Amino acid sequence: MTGDDLVLDVRNLAVTIDTPDGVVHPVKGIDLSVRRGEIVGIMGESGCGKSTTIKGILRLLGSNSHVTADRIELVGRADLTRAGKREMQRIRGRHIGFVAQNPFGSLNPIYSIERQFYELQKAHRTGVGKKESRRIALEMLAGVGIVGPERVLDGYAHQLSGGMAQRVVIALATTLGPGLLFADEPTTGLDATVQAQILDLISDLVRREDRSMVLVTHDLGVIAQYCQKAVVMYGGEVVESGDIVDVMVNPKHPYTRKLIGSVPKAGEKLSVTR
Ligand SMILES: Nc1ncnc2c1ncn2[C@@H]1O[C@H](COP(=O)(O)OP(=O)(O)OP(=O)(O)O)[C@@H](O)[C@H]1O
Ligand SMILES: [Mg+2]
Repeated sequence: MTGDDLVLDVRNLAVTIDTPDGVVHPVKGIDLSVRRGEIVGIMGESGCGKSTTIKGILRLLGSNSHVTADRIELVGRADLTRAGKREMQRIRGRHIGFVAQNPFGSLNPIYSIERQFYELQKAHRTGVGKKESRRIALEMLAGVGIVGPERVLDGYAHQLSGGMAQRVVIALATTLGPGLLFADEPTTGLDATVQAQILDLISDLVRREDRSMVLVTHDLGVIAQYCQKAVVMYGGEVVESGDIVDVMVNPKHPYTRKLIGSVPKAGEKLSVTR
């Protein structure tokens, strides 16, 4: 692989948030690089700054937050440290897709699913008609394994199960063909079988199109099974990162050792997928 394969290059990203009790520093200067075709797993205990990292890159944090970085580059496309609000809106969806932990938080409760596909496409493509949008939406829903997509399109978010809603969110997030996906614990709250289905689906989508993904998860087994690279965060910092095999087989940081020690079958899963 050469440097030309780099899709996302983040250097020294820091986030501070003003709170009534003072300033907190959830992210303290981290680096993150993602190459084409690669799935990078971010893991670390609750509160270590995983979601804030992603939201900082995507500029989805509230106005009480400050994001600084030496570099946030969507390589060959945009310098995200300089992008304005409109430019970021254009980039999100079109170049970077986002699948969040809670699918219902990403879906609009008062628009039909069909309308959500239409609004998304209208915002990014000039001249897309409702008929064309519906055709694309049906194709996308079928692509994420939804049987009877017409019924889903005509319905609303509250009519969907958690697993179905997450499929719809994945379909929406990939409709415009972004080269990079951020998935922040996309299967939390779903039962184990559905979790595996969703992770298989999303990783297939990424691999098939030679896209890239940043996958945040608590689950070391998931990282071992789906990711080529692992980034371990602790207290707002990256304490370890590298090839998944190196991190799993030869963890350097005590926190990573502890994580791996608590998941006895991680090595086994690793050997199955390699
Ligand atoms: N708006 C906010 N106001 C105050 N503190 C915040 C805010 N957002 C995040 N934090 C703090 O920043 C830290 C990192 O939060 P973050 O949500 O990024 O963690 P996480 O690693 O994603 O955790 P989890 O695994 O539970 O999702 C936490 O200590 C959190 O309390
Ligand atoms: Mg989180």
